[in-house]
Amino acid sequence: MGGLARLEYRGYDSAGIAAVTTDRERVSTSKKAGKLVNLAKQLADRPLPDATAAIGHTRWATHGAPTDANAHPHIAAGGRIAIIHNGIIENYSTLRKELLAQGVDFLSETDTEVAGHLLAAEVAKGLSLADGMRALVSRLEGAFTLLAVDAQDPGTVVGARRNSPLVVGIGEGENFLGSDVVAFIEHTRTALELGQDEVVELTADAVRVTSFDGTVVDREPYHVDWDSAAAEKGGFATFMDKEIHDQPAAVADTLRGRVDERGKLQLDAGIIDESVLNSVDKIVVVACGTAAYAGMVAKYAIEHWCRIPVEVELAHEFRYRDPVVNVKTLVVAISQSGETMDTIMAIRHAQQQGASVIGIVNTQGSTIAREADAVLYTRAGPEIAVASTKAFVAQITAAYLLGIYLAEIRGNKFPDEIASLMEQLSEIPAKIQRILDTSGPIREVARSMANHNTVLFLGRHVGYPIAMEGALKLKELAYIHAEGFAAGELKHGPIALIEEGVPVFIILPSAHGRESLHSKVVSNIQEVRARGAFTMVIAEEGDTEAADHAEHVFSIPVAPVLMTPLLSVIPLQIFALELATAKGLDVDQPRNLAKSVTVE
Ligand code: AGP
Repeated sequence: MGGLARLEYRGYDSAGIAAVTTDRERVSTSKKAGKLVNLAKQLADRPLPDATAAIGHTRWATHGAPTDANAHPHIAAGGRIAIIHNGIIENYSTLRKELLAQGVDFLSETDTEVAGHLLAAEVAKGLSLADGMRALVSRLEGAFTLLAVDAQDPGTVVGARRNSPLVVGIGEGENFLGSDVVAFIEHTRTALELGQDEVVELTADAVRVTSFDGTVVDREPYHVDWDSAAAEKGGFATFMDKEIHDQPAAVADTLRGRVDERGKLQLDAGIIDESVLNSVDKIVVVACGTAAYAGMVAKYAIEHWCRIPVEVELAHEFRYRDPVVNVKTLVVAISQSGETMDTIMAIRHAQQQGASVIGIVNTQGSTIAREADAVLYTRAGPEIAVASTKAFVAQITAAYLLGIYLAEIRGNKFPDEIASLMEQLSEIPAKIQRILDTSGPIREVARSMANHNTVLFLGRHVGYPIAMEGALKLKELAYIHAEGFAAGELKHGPIALIEEGVPVFIILPSAHGRESLHSKVVSNIQEVRARGAFTMVIAEEGDTEAADHAEHVFSIPVAPVLMTPLLSVIPLQIFALELATAKGLDVDQPRNLAKSVTVE
């Protein structure tokens, strides 16, 4: 149950366990709709017998509503076989019809149960569970990680992986499987990532990996460089609050050790030749959700520093519109999990067109990290809360490092300019800490706004993606209608949304510096205020004008404009966290969501 609890962030609409006992007829299962706590209560009333092997699952529904019956594991062959699944079996409908024609009775509406019955049929022919799994996967289309147990082969768990992640934890006299190392981190920090189209056969003291065709694969284990404490709440009430407070460390760790003795920036893994990077004439960032907003922030910096055009595209849109990508394109895939299916598909498409791909990824050994040509890891540590916070600031930091690296090798910046940018970044962790240490007022205001139905967010330049990120945080956590707008766009339509008392957050840029947008944004504040908006302004410390235009001003430390997104997002994260908490909502596991979206 501990492992399932740590994986619950990936899906939490139902959960279940199948245990293989000495009864060789059938496995014992327990499953329940709703959060894991419901399953825990059921198990407390009706415990499963002691087992030699077990599989467990937390679900994010795709096929069939979140009910007890649709919860995994699914059984087949009268309970001899149990199976769990992440992903979508795209040809399940055809396979289901075939099985129905054979007289198979279905107990659920899931695509997974189809796989269970097909596996049972293979095992009934006399195949071992592993051979049966290899036969099964040849019939499936789509994305799937499958784990199965057989009552007649106690002590063995067989897994298969296509497109969805599967990691082996190697212990002493015990081995584990999980979608993420957090599942077994309290037992072992030695992990082995299954590759695409591979099958694993696991017993307490052996791990055997083959490709789908049965060829033995030799995979090197790796050491997980964080421990179980990093995946705990550390004294905070929620993972999200803890992760908000992890942000100074997330930025500092992402920056650490990036510059070698010659002053050159270092990527983590894989090599893209400098000559390739020098010939790049376009950068395309592909990502989803918060990671895409990190990409939008990075666009401003990379274009400014490197004079290369940067496009930012939602990964699911990129893949299917025949984008213009070639050997001169550098694709930057940003992903916390490294397992977002939309982003994986986008990078595969880009690679097929000859583009080089750099992954900015938080999860070691994840699919994007392995498939990209080079990786720049964000070192945010495990992010458990569904709403992304520390990964976001770490993604901006890493993307900035990439921009500085490109500016360096392409000769766009002199060494002293590079050093100055690195210095500006190195000052960010302490500045974030200052915001966290003085977050009382924004928490108080957020609590007072729990009854509002709409909140708008405005920003210009790098403040624009931050406005959208602030709105996303509020939508996903507090279920409030929230929109982020480019402040200049307001008068072209969205200003019609403003009515008496509508709360509007505005990210006010510094009044200093060349081409400051301060006065322009002040005008935008006046425009909404004149129409009754309740204005809350995030302004630089010492901005004497901000208070004249706002019901509340929240200050952030002074920083060069391109560094400000790393600061201005923090009050917005806290606002969403606090408002959702005041509404009594579960901020770590908001409704309808899952942390890793491993389906297209
Ligand atoms: C944001 O709070 C969400 N969790 C979501 O938008 C997320 O950033 C998106 O699904 C991308 O996930 P990834 O970084 O793991 O690829």
